[in-house]
Amino acid sequence: MTGPRILALDQGTSNTKALLINGSGHVIARASVPLRTDYPQPGWAEQSATEIWTSVQAAIAEVMSRGGTAPVDAIAIANQRETLVLWDSQTGQPIAPAMIWQCRRTAADCAALIAAGHDAQVIAATGLGINPLFPASKLGWAMRNLPEVAALLAKGRLRAGTVDSWLLWNLTAGRTFATDHSNASRTQLFDTARLAFSPELADLFGASVDCLPQALPSDSHFGDTAEGTTALGSGIPIRAMMGDSHAALYGHGIRKPGGVKATYGTGSSLMTLTPVRKTPANGISGTIAWTDRAGTAFALEGNITVSAQAAAFAARLLGLPDAAALSALAQTVPDAGGVTFVPALAGLGAPHWHDGARGTIGGMTHGTGPAHLARATIDAIAHQIADVFEAMQAEIGQPLGALCADGGASGNRFLMQVQADLIDRPVLSARVEEIGAIGVAGMALAAMGCPDLPAFESERFVPCLALADRQAARRRWAGAIRQAMV
Ligand code: G3P
Repeated sequence: MTGPRILALDQGTSNTKALLINGSGHVIARASVPLRTDYPQPGWAEQSATEIWTSVQAAIAEVMSRGGTAPVDAIAIANQRETLVLWDSQTGQPIAPAMIWQCRRTAADCAALIAAGHDAQVIAATGLGINPLFPASKLGWAMRNLPEVAALLAKGRLRAGTVDSWLLWNLTAGRTFATDHSNASRTQLFDTARLAFSPELADLFGASVDCLPQALPSDSHFGDTAEGTTALGSGIPIRAMMGDSHAALYGHGIRKPGGVKATYGTGSSLMTLTPVRKTPANGISGTIAWTDRAGTAFALEGNITVSAQAAAFAARLLGLPDAAALSALAQTVPDAGGVTFVPALAGLGAPHWHDGARGTIGGMTHGTGPAHLARATIDAIAHQIADVFEAMQAEIGQPLGALCADGGASGNRFLMQVQADLIDRPVLSARVEEIGAIGVAGMALAAMGCPDLPAFESERFVPCLALADRQAARRRWAGAIRQAMV
């Protein structure tokens, strides 16, 4: 008996995945469709909202063709967060390219708001420091710079939402305009104490709450598919939506404070649950993990801008074919020989938050070779995670437990061992790739009254670095970070 079948969508930045998942959390079939990002100007990053939707249609069609004939009982959606889609409710068409989370076109607007002293007020309401990452400043920019946006707002036809709300709108043929609390909490327009979009914040950013979706618990019955929208046909309920990082936390089985996860992708996100809503400091954000029948789960998050991507970058510098070759080279030396590499290739994110920081290589001597730089790169990925891990501990005032790891680079066993050594905690590396999709499918199953998903297999890495060596490595790294921020 495998229970209901869930079609889980994981709409990510580089591809859209569709998975059929059974009631035990096992993946029955999977499909993936790549997605293009455009960088039309320095600092800008856009995707076609139409292509995001058609990639979902294509992925659903493909997974259904592979998954047998049994019916799908519900849909669950995990998605790239903080990406803003603008569309016209009458035509259903996007009115501009989606401004994705990487887009920094509002950097100057955000700097001006911070200089005017608004950061503390925004952090108190949302848990998030003012930053171009979030949709708040992007919506303000669109209001000021895209005449059609203001015109549609005046006519009550403007719809502005994150990717979950755009997909939901399309799946239901425009019947439902809603988002979940986790995605809402990443807009920087959502008051996480009141669980409502804030008109005051909207005013501050030059935005409006009138075009925003209804914010609902993550395990809501968000609506039903409409005929002709996808290969699924009509009447299939959408039973869970969560931001991808939140869905990964849920997928790891973390339900109470103390557990912490790190996703090793292009960038990295660490997230841990907190017993109560926090207004954080220490370079960490406060956010909503999800809202379900048990109530609202609050979390701390730290986002690292360049994480596993550093390995691909250093591989290119060294003339190596890929990150795997870099990792193999790194293992030919016992340590980095005093070399440090801070991959601040797009500034530094959590917990340092320094937009002007530059990538820096230090500590070289005549004895330095390519293998030392390779090793310094692996160390850098782990040190950045350790920085956030330690900042989270400072924030909650007590030690965190084992680190649950997911994402592409968590399959690198060498990196996982270095990580365990540098945080001095076990690292549990997930053996399943699609942890976010499984997580949000698990929430949909729970919403349908099914038992929680069983724990899946993970590989355990135990710290084995001597205390003095660990402390010396962390001190050297702290010095390198200071230099990168000069
Ligand atoms: O915060 C942005 C994040 O949700 C993007 O995730 O998996 O598309 O890189 P991903």
